[in-house]
Amino acid sequence: MCRVEKSERKREMGGGGGVFKGEKQQQLKSGGGSRMKLWMIRATTSVLLWTCIVQLTAIGETWGPRVLTVWPPCFNRESDAASAIVQDKVPSVPARVLPPKRVYKNNGYLMVSCNGGLNQMRAAICDMVAIARHLNVTLIVPELDKASFWADPSEFQDIFDVDHFITSLRDEVRILKVLPPRLKRRLELGRVYSMPPVSWSDISYYHNQILPLIQKYKVVHLNRTDARLANNGQPLEIQKLRCRVNFSALRFTTQIEELGKRVIRLLRQNGPFLVLHLRYEMDMLAFSGCTQGCNKEEVDELTRMRYAYPWWKEKIINSDLKRKDGLCPLTPEETALTLRALDVDPSIQIYIAAGEIYGGQRRMASLAAAYPRLVRKETLLEPADLRFFQNHSSQMAALDYLVSLESDIFVPTYDGNMAKVVEGHRSWDEFSAAVKEAHADRMGGPSSRMVIPDRPKEEDYFYSNPEECLQPSSFDPLSST
Ligand SMILES: *[C@@H]1O[C@H](CO)[C@@H](O)[C@H](O)[C@H]1NC(C)=O
Ligand SMILES: *[C@@H]1O[C@H](CO)[C@@H](O)[C@H](O)[C@H]1NC(C)=O
Ligand SMILES: *[C@@H]1O[C@H](CO)[C@@H](O)[C@H](O)[C@H]1NC(C)=O
Ligand SMILES: *[C@@H]1O[C@H](CO)[C@@H](O)[C@H](O)[C@H]1NC(C)=O
Repeated sequence: MCRVEKSERKREMGGGGGVFKGEKQQQLKSGGGSRMKLWMIRATTSVLLWTCIVQLTAIGETWGPRVLTVWPPCFNRESDAASAIVQDKVPSVPARVLPPKRVYKNNGYLMVSCNGGLNQMRAAICDMVAIARHLNVTLIVPELDKASFWADPSEFQDIFDVDHFITSLRDEVRILKVLPPRLKRRLELGRVYSMPPVSWSDISYYHNQILPLIQKYKVVHLNRTDARLANNGQPLEIQKLRCRVNFSALRFTTQIEELGKRVIRLLRQNGPFLVLHLRYEMDMLAFSGCTQGCNKEEVDELTRMRYAYPWWKEKIINSDLKRKDGLCPLTPEETALTLRALDVDPSIQIYIAAGEIYGGQRRMASLAAAYPRLVRKETLLEPADLRFFQNHSSQMAALDYLVSLESDIFVPTYDGNMAKVVEGHRSWDEFSAAVKEAHADRMGGPSSRMVIPDRPKEEDYFYSNPEECLQPSSFDPLSST
């Protein structure tokens, strides 16, 4: 199914080549027909892959009604799982069953400060829970990044349901909101051991290097968390726990969930909708150095910003080369062309899941001309609804994320963390059912992640294909009874 879809799309694009090229040269002023074609193929590869996945969802309507919010089968029996019964705070939800606490000898306390955007932090939280569990330590509720470009002052509990996080994981690891008083004083006196763990380490690093430090200092603070646990080669229990945290322990606050539902309702009233994750905010352009279509002042501003952030390592960037290597997000203009080339209906509603688009209206003009029904959370909701979300980019991102999950078609213009987690969703239940049906006589199961021992950065990303969690027969620890 996927392959057919893809080659058809390629053909469509080939067919429309004349129009496409003409417009492109006009808008992007790039020369060289064949080189352009080559670039186009590269630049749209990720979009094609995505569309291939997401089209299945849209087509899925012919295979049966859309099932909303489906988790992999290994997790949806969470509530049958256990022993103690607790009344959930939301009255409409029936009594929830919580697992019994795990009893273990505590080796100390682990504090973590996550860095990056919402989805990167989300992955980091999953990793850190798994690490804390493995080391038999007590995890303090992670601190979220407040210093990134987005400068979101939100705390964990502003975004995630913190009580659910703590209680639903209590059969694995003890989690506290704050350090016990005695240790808290040490923290206030600055006498807590703080360090960034080594990227892409496997769990033995935490066992051999970090655990002794925790035992020595009682509290260790890991002050960066991105990509800190390897994707591959980890014990099965760790992989499963990472998924469990992600899929069932991390739940957005009711406030965010409710608003998300409202946005989805408003969109659904007007028919199907496409979510466009238009990754064209200032930070993206400054970081990637992709300045196609920007004017001189903008290029200067973006360059200044890149130099202002010391942790962005790459400073000298040739925008054209980067783009030819397929490493740039699609510009809004290119996005309009790509959507048209993909035959996306010009009358479809397009929800822009993004922060402020750099260059504003000027850059959005061709997209708005091709797709007049562009909406954003700010246009669907009253300012009062978003009052508490303003200046809280992670909460805004959470809202966009919820809407993305429910979209009929999801198109990311860059293969970032958000695209990956939405893929994680799309690639299960409904997708799996569709693939299985289409490939009834072939092997359609989850695939093994690509492992490249010396280049962890290039390996398949754990969170885009958590194969260990996608095998119902071999993993179902929560079923039984
Ligand atoms: C953690 O606790 C379990 C028992 O609950 C024990 O088997 C294991 O060796 C402990 N691991 C560490 C690193 O302390
Ligand atoms: C993390 O801790 C190390 C060692 O204390 C320090 O050098 C580094 O600047 C810290 N990093 C951050 C992001 O706070
Ligand atoms: C958000 O931040 C901007 C600039 O930092 C400020 O001008 C504005 O008043 C803030 N809005 C709210 C609702 O806090
Ligand atoms: C993580 O959880 C989110 C939603 O809760 C989901 O979109 C994503 O696919 C999950 N990814 C993995 C690998 O667990």
